[in-house]
Amino acid sequence: MSITEIGRTGGGPALGGDDGPAVRAEGLVKTFGGHRAVDGIDLEIRPGEIFGVLGPNGAGKTTMLRMLATLLRIDAGRAEIFGVDVAGNPHVIRQLVGVTGQYASVDENLTARENLWLFSRLQGVAAPRARSVGTELLGRFGLEEAADRPISQFSGGMRRRLDLAASLITRPPLIFLDEPTTGLDPRTRGQMWDTIRDLVADGCTVLLTTQYLDEADQLADRVAVIDHGRKVAEGTPDELKTAVGDSTLQLLLAEPDEVPAAAEVVRRVLGSDPVLSPERGRLNVALDQADLAADVLIALRTAGVSISSVSVAKPSLDEVFLALTGHGTGDHGTGGDHESDGHETSGGRGTGTKENR
Ligand SMILES: Nc1ncnc2c1ncn2[C@@H]1O[C@H](COP(=O)(O)OP(=O)(O)OP(=O)(O)O)[C@@H](O)[C@H]1O
Ligand SMILES: [Mg+2]
Repeated sequence: MSITEIGRTGGGPALGGDDGPAVRAEGLVKTFGGHRAVDGIDLEIRPGEIFGVLGPNGAGKTTMLRMLATLLRIDAGRAEIFGVDVAGNPHVIRQLVGVTGQYASVDENLTARENLWLFSRLQGVAAPRARSVGTELLGRFGLEEAADRPISQFSGGMRRRLDLAASLITRPPLIFLDEPTTGLDPRTRGQMWDTIRDLVADGCTVLLTTQYLDEADQLADRVAVIDHGRKVAEGTPDELKTAVGDSTLQLLLAEPDEVPAAAEVVRRVLGSDPVLSPERGRLNVALDQADLAADVLIALRTAGVSISSVSVAKPSLDEVFLALTGHGTGDHGTGGDHESDGHETSGGRGTGTKENR
């Protein structure tokens, strides 16, 4: 909670005008069958910020967003959006929140312009206004040229932009973006980042999920890291990264069998374990300072471990995860790495357990 307040006051967005959080959730739980997909998450998102939810596949990100957007029932805990109880006032919440992804099943044969018109009308916007809003959004998202083409001909990036445009028709003060750039090329990702920043400059609050540390880093004021339905860390991107180190030394060994020997050298030089990659012979070493890379390389040569490729990069989500959870993002095993204290909580205050019911 040590982060600069960037929320705006005075003449701000069209909502009750209180100074409360944009989102406050306590002990959110969603259970599918016996599995707690969201297992006691607390969140507080300030008006005017971009809040990132970072986590690997299956962490519970989409499930959490869907509960907050009234698209899934909240099984336990509670949530408020701009002070409005989510479970008790779904119709009000839907006015306050724009969600991308919910229009995934649009008519492929309709054009972008027709789709926006249809969404506007479905949301009760009068016909002339629906037309002008559509034109404005197509312009804002760089889709004018493609406006009259059926979206079956759209690329992934164009679809994302149309999806985001559709979620803005009613000018909601809070936008949920579920992995807005997954699968986009670097240039299109950059454009999407700019679009998201523009939304915030216009007074929106943004909650976005991502699997990418760099995206959280570029965009988010604060980030919650979730894993197995639980929040394992929260802070600014810088705070998360310093938990891991400044940079990462990426090594590919000439002899994959020498990984244990290399790991031993790393432990001796740095006092910490490397992250072993699923790819044989590859390991990543978190560094507090980039120049420690030289110490590691010299020690490896002295120990007779030969290396076929070396690079120094920024820490990846894998390193952040290993540092925070003791396992990598690719490890979806259900046991072993979490200590079990046998507590059953619905309010989940980070006991570290993973109950199966
Ligand atoms: N409708 C559903 N019925 C049963 N299980 C579900 C359902 N939706 C999600 N799950 C399970 O809940 C867990 C969390 O899923 P969720 O989609 O929230 O993850 P995520 O963090 O969004 O992952 P991804 O990055 O892959 O989108 C997963 O184990 C998933 O299989
Ligand atoms: Mg998801």
